Order: sequence, then C-alpha cells, then structure tokens
Amino acid sequence: MFGRIKPLDAILATAEKKSLHRSLGAFQLTMLGVGAVIGTGIFVLTAEAAQKAGPGMMVSFIIAGFVCAVAALCYSEMASMVPVSGSAYTYSYAVMGEMIAWMVGWALILEYAVAAGAVSVGWSGYVVGLINNAFHIQIPVTFVRGPLDGGVINLPAMLIASLVTWLLVIGTKESATVNAILVTIKVTALTLFCILALPVLKMQHFDPFAPLGFGGIGAAAASIFFAYVGFDAVSTAAEETKNPQRNMPIGLIGSLTICTIFYLLVAAGVIGSVGAQPMLGPDHLGLSPGSPELAAKCATIQDQAVVCSKEALAWTLRQIGWPQIGNLVGLAAGLALPSVILMMMFGQTRIFFVMSRDGLLPAAFSRIHPKFNTPYFITILTGIFVALFSAFFPVGVLANISNSGTLFAFAAVSVAVMVIRKKDPTRHRPFRTPALFITAPLSLAGCLFLFFNLDMKSKMLFAAWAVVGLCVYFGYSRSRSHVGRGLMEGEPDMPPPGAQ
Ligand code: ALA
Repeated sequence: MFGRIKPLDAILATAEKKSLHRSLGAFQLTMLGVGAVIGTGIFVLTAEAAQKAGPGMMVSFIIAGFVCAVAALCYSEMASMVPVSGSAYTYSYAVMGEMIAWMVGWALILEYAVAAGAVSVGWSGYVVGLINNAFHIQIPVTFVRGPLDGGVINLPAMLIASLVTWLLVIGTKESATVNAILVTIKVTALTLFCILALPVLKMQHFDPFAPLGFGGIGAAAASIFFAYVGFDAVSTAAEETKNPQRNMPIGLIGSLTICTIFYLLVAAGVIGSVGAQPMLGPDHLGLSPGSPELAAKCATIQDQAVVCSKEALAWTLRQIGWPQIGNLVGLAAGLALPSVILMMMFGQTRIFFVMSRDGLLPAAFSRIHPKFNTPYFITILTGIFVALFSAFFPVGVLANISNSGTLFAFAAVSVAVMVIRKKDPTRHRPFRTPALFITAPLSLAGCLFLFFNLDMKSKMLFAAWAVVGLCVYFGYSRSRSHVGRGLMEGEPDMPPPGAQ
C-alpha cells in the first residue's frame, strides 16, 4: 500500500526541463512572503480570535507563528531539493508513497480552495463596510452574509471569487511590481492602524487576560494559524533563489517575523483601544464564532463589539474617532485581499494539474486553454466551488476547515523531510533545515497541537473529507495511476501562463 513511490529522479527530470533563472535575493523573498501571508487573517479573523481567547489572543498569535516558523524550515529543505509544482503532494509522493501523497493532495484542496473562499468572505466584509460607511449605502444583510451569519447569500464574496477565476483563466499572474505595491498598501494600512490605536491603549482592557483559559488561547491559535498560511509561496521559490542556503531562511523567518510583529501590535491595538472580551452564552461559555447564536447576540447590540465586526480593524478605527482612516483601511483590504485569493486559487489549480498529470484525477483537469495557455477547465471548476463556499459559509468556519487541511499537509512534510534525510542523506540539498531532528519533530508536534485545538466540527469535516478521499482513491485513482501503470518518465510541467 505504501510501496508506490515516484522516484525522486523522475520528478527531477521534469523539473530540469524548466530551469529557472536564480534571481531572487533575501529582500525579494521576504516581500513575497509578506505579500502572500498578510490577508484575511489579521484584517478579519482578529475578531474571531478575540471571541475565542479575549486579550489572550496575543499568545495565540505567538504560538501559531512559532509552529509556522518550524514548519517553514522543513518545507524549505524539501522545496529546495524537489523544486517542482505540487509542493507537499509531490514531496510526499517521492518519500512516503502514493496513498499518503494522494491524502496530502486531497487535504491541500481544503488548504487552497477553502482558504480562497475564506478570503473572499473577508473581502466582502470590508467592502460592504466601506460602501456603507463611505457612501452611506446599506446593502441588506440578506445578500452580504451566509445563512449561519444572519443572512442568506454572500453575493459580494461570490462576485470576487468569480472575478479572480476569470483573471486566472486569462492567465493573470501577479508580477513582482504588483506584489510590491500591494505589500506597501497592506503594511501602510497596518502601520496607520497601530499609530492611531496604540496611543489610546488602556491597560484595563487587558484584564481579564484569558477569560476562557488556556483552552481559549489554544482554540484561537488554531484559528489564527490561518493568518500565517501562504508562506509556502517562499519555499516554492527555492529554485529561483540566489544562494538559497542563506536567503531562504532569511526570507521565510524574516517574513514570518515581520508578520508576527505586525500581528501582535495590531492585536494589542484592538484589545487596548476598544476591548476584546468574548460574548458569553447563558452557560458563561464563549459563543462560537460563525454560529447563529453569536450572530443573534450581536444583533441585540447592533454589532457594537469588535467580536461582532466583519471588518475588525476598520471598525476599531471608526470607534476611536478616525472614521475616514477606517474607510482607508477598508479600501486597502479591498484592494489587497484579491491577490491573496488569486495566489490560493493558483496554488489549487497547480495541485490539481499535477495530480491529474499523475493519472490520479481525470485527464480533463489538466486540459490547457489553446489561447491563454492556462488549465482553464480546472480553474473554472475550482472557481465554482470557491464561489459556492464563500456564498454560504462564514469566514471563520472556512478558515478552520482550511487550517485542518494545511496542518495535515505540514505534518506530512515534517515527516517526509526526516525520512528522506535518513534514506537519501547524500542527495544535493541547496537548503538544509537547521537541527532537523529537533525542528521537524517540533513542527509535527505543533501541527498536531493546533489540529486538535480546532473546533469539533472542523475536525469531523476533515475526517469525513479524508474518508471520501480514500473512497475516490481506491474507487478511481489507484487503478489509473501512471506510477502504478509504469508510465511516468518526464511528463511536461504546466506551461507558464502566456507562454506559447
Ligand atoms: N494568510 C492569508 C490570510 O490571512 C491566507 O488571508
């Protein structure tokens, strides 16, 4: 069952065909990381983290950041050794066999597609708030929130998901310049927030610090982990990096450190300026974010608490007397979040493409558009699902489901990197994880800790998803696998968008 391994050399033969120019230095890598990471997590999920942990969410940010840092170091060794599309799926195929690889690929669908849905819902919250506050146009809640959140359908979220799908079909890829502009916009918005919120911080807002105990802090860490997802963008650029042994860790740890510092300052700003105590139910337990109970309780106070807000940072600024800057932060989120959706959906199409090329998914999934040179079929299919998720589910629910898949993939990579160090110690590794046999077990333990701190529904959903995955594998993919059928030498990789 674990015997079907895709030899590393066959994978590398594919990669060799597209040797990329090594042009990225430490600074560009850090920018790439910050660009991919800052998004809905900090702009929106801060409210959810506050609902779960109160001021203790600051500890949650540190825990989630630490797990990502050690996972990132493991990712980088694999990425530099196996620099081909497919990330965790491809690494697992080479090291732990087809079935585990399939499960990782299956989990990555949660990571990427569901995350794209979550960011679409986050975008919708900010844009609706902006339209309301800047132009005084009230869009009925029915059309801007899903059924669990007090509405019926989230039309703006569907709209942005569809727009991004269209951009991907016509071959849009974010350029370094666009990334740099968006990073500047996001960083400026967060800096402005800190400059205005931190001076009005009141220490009494930090008390009680952990109203729901360490359980609450752990649960918030599991959710807020979403705020760090996306750094894999840095590790997958290993092949284009100058002196990866030096620059990769600087890029990864540098971008994670910058994000963690911003996240802590922003969290302190929110807590200290407007308070961030959770809403409790009749049993004095915290109401769960994204639940009808919390939506109903928030409705009784006209959403006048940060834990009720769909645009936590803009709301806080309006609350402390800076409505115009609040609108500007809303505008910044509106401009910058679509690029996070784009990256997530792009990642998803890549994974599907590679799995289809390996015979595990139908060949139609890797069909390339004759004019745009993009995998249009799978992009449109992914887009339809992303639009549907975002139409009907709240952001926190989607983020937690996405986290379950991501944590599984990170855990698999942490194991894979140790296995291959033992099995193939002499293979060339442009980047070696420092103190691997401490770092990788820490990463594995951290992923398990966060996974088990997710809410029960997300864990159950993950388990159900895994069972469906196994049924698809044994019912469809296993008998069609190219590795299983002995057809695997040097398949072409996906052409870059726009290539002829
Ligand atoms: N880290 C990304 C975000 O927070 C996914 O939107």
